[in-house]
Amino acid sequence: MPEESMGHVCPPSVIKWLNSPLRRLLQNPRKIFGTYVNPGNTVIDLGCGGGLFTVALAEMVGKSGRVIAVDLQEEMLRITRNFATKKGVMDRITLHQCSEKDIGLTDQNVDFALAFYVVHEVPDRKGFLSQVAALLKPDATFMLIEPKHHVKAEQFDQILGEAKLAGLDYHTQIKMAMSRGMVFTVGS
Ligand SMILES: C[S@@+](CC[C@H](N)C(=O)[O-])C[C@H]1O[C@@H](n2cnc3c(N)ncnc32)[C@H](O)[C@@H]1O
Repeated sequence: MPEESMGHVCPPSVIKWLNSPLRRLLQNPRKIFGTYVNPGNTVIDLGCGGGLFTVALAEMVGKSGRVIAVDLQEEMLRITRNFATKKGVMDRITLHQCSEKDIGLTDQNVDFALAFYVVHEVPDRKGFLSQVAALLKPDATFMLIEPKHHVKAEQFDQILGEAKLAGLDYHTQIKMAMSRGMVFTVGS
């Protein structure tokens, strides 16, 4: 396993838990992102999985906003499409299949980026975080959240250090059940 890698890629069979009503209760999207996402924003959901947060973000940005849902697994994007269509918000969502080492997007003018339970699965975290930083507008925010059961405190500190090196400044620490998280701004 390469030095940067801490885990494996979450299979689509886990979506039952990831998109469960219990998780929506414990990790309420409006409580978590409400301060950072506004109608009309362009947001990106990196490693969108089954689209739980993609759909919530699409509701928050409204018809005039845009959500780019990115995942490396085609099956995850298919599940996200079905979920978003069912919820009536697919009109403002763009699905994008990336590769393991390349997000493959430029010039998106992103207001808010999210990587929820994703970064520990990324083999080249430094490269990934640099690519995220390059997608953000100067006043944008980036929220990175990792699961405590996969990412120990010292591993999370290592990720924070890598984000700093990628040009992201610490803004607000996130306190959330079962999770470690940080909101970043673009470094000056
Ligand atoms: C544990 S799931 C989390 C899904 C979603 N963010 C959530 O919280 O419900 C991790 C997701 O990240 C995706 N992923 C892993 N490595 C990735 C990478 N390098 N780029 C984009 N997505 C990646 C996986 O395919 C999977 O869908």
